[in-house]
Amino acid sequence: MTVWIGTSWKMNKTLSEATEWAGGLAEFLAGRQLGEVQPFVIPPATAIAAVAQTLREEPRVLVGAQNAHWEDAGAWTGEVSVPQVADAGARIVEIGHSERREHFGETDETVRAKVAATLAHGLVPLLCIGEPADVKDAGGSTAHVLEQAARALEGLEAEQLGRVLIAYEPIWAIGEHGRPAGVAELEEPFAALGGAYGHRVAGLLYGGSVNLDNAAQLLGIAHVDGLFVGRTAWRLEGYLRLLEIAVQHATARP
Ligand code: 13P
Repeated sequence: MTVWIGTSWKMNKTLSEATEWAGGLAEFLAGRQLGEVQPFVIPPATAIAAVAQTLREEPRVLVGAQNAHWEDAGAWTGEVSVPQVADAGARIVEIGHSERREHFGETDETVRAKVAATLAHGLVPLLCIGEPADVKDAGGSTAHVLEQAARALEGLEAEQLGRVLIAYEPIWAIGEHGRPAGVAELEEPFAALGGAYGHRVAGLLYGGSVNLDNAAQLLGIAHVDGLFVGRTAWRLEGYLRLLEIAVQHATARP
């Protein structure tokens, strides 16, 4: 099974910072075996083309977009479409991150439309789901994420579902104000997601305060096929170390 190790840079990095990071990654990977580890990087829209261009000799790294509209073109000021991000070099589209749901009005309905548009253009949707702290405190984590996933993936055929990545990112675990999730807290939601989607999607990823100390443990949770990482991977050294941890994990698996 593939082990996915990806990062979204969120609203960070200039073009020169982006190309320096991507160039460093290409240098690190040259001549290196990754086994079943699949790296991906999701820059801000301004840097997708430059990152894809910098990584052109390293097709093992998938480049993505943090968002794309459900329509192909039109009067949608400020938006970019799936064909546009594909043209820039993106092969993954991140959809429904909690920061977009909270601040930019993403709903289960727009998320579903974006998943469908991404699949229609042959790109990989990276569907983000996750519950807020109050839902978790009330014991509702698993029901919440199953519901979000069901709404986003409603009506897909088995072949389409097989191209989808799902990232479970509990909102309470994400970003500067988040706290790293303990393994025990993640076992139940991943068991449920694994039961519902495990063999039917391309991968189930975990995201939220992943760091160099907890990455190996998180990869060991049943049904976790990879990690989706913010802050720890924004410095190239952090990302490279995560790749090494993942290669070790993939090699050691029975
Ligand atoms: P952090 O790893 O910085 O908590 O961010 C996770 C995330 O939101 C990735 O999309």
